[in-house]
Amino acid sequence: GAPVEVDISSLAPGEMKTVEWRGKPVWIVRRTKEEVAALAKHDNELADPNSERKPDELTPPYARNTHRSIKPEYFIAVGICTHLGCSPSARFTPGPQPSLPEDWPGGWLCPCHGSTFDLAGRVFKNKPAPDNLEIPPHEYLSDAKVIIG
Ligand code: FES
Repeated sequence: GAPVEVDISSLAPGEMKTVEWRGKPVWIVRRTKEEVAALAKHDNELADPNSERKPDELTPPYARNTHRSIKPEYFIAVGICTHLGCSPSARFTPGPQPSLPEDWPGGWLCPCHGSTFDLAGRVFKNKPAPDNLEIPPHEYLSDAKVIIG
């Protein structure tokens, strides 16, 4: 599959867009400063907070950090659950959610078997999904353009 060039200049903090790459959905999220800060606060609830599992498949070297991205503000991931391949739903809004902790900072919830992922695509412990979401290879061409693949 060919690399996909994406214009991210219109993405506001808190927004997400989905593009297709190699037949897969790829999410591009612009996190708010609060969302980035919240990523450091729940490592003990995560199955693999430092993305040490299957690094070659799931996390390129430049995304092996707390925010799992090149720029803390932007998060780019393949939107496919690492359990059985469903597409997780975005849950950005903090507050009470059915069967989720009240202080859950958001991220994604897989509708198939309930796996939850934080805003860096890191899977929470004791969920069916074994691994963090895949970060596709990507590179910034400028502040406004990123190329996936
Ligand atoms: Fe996502 Fe099973 S496919 S939790």
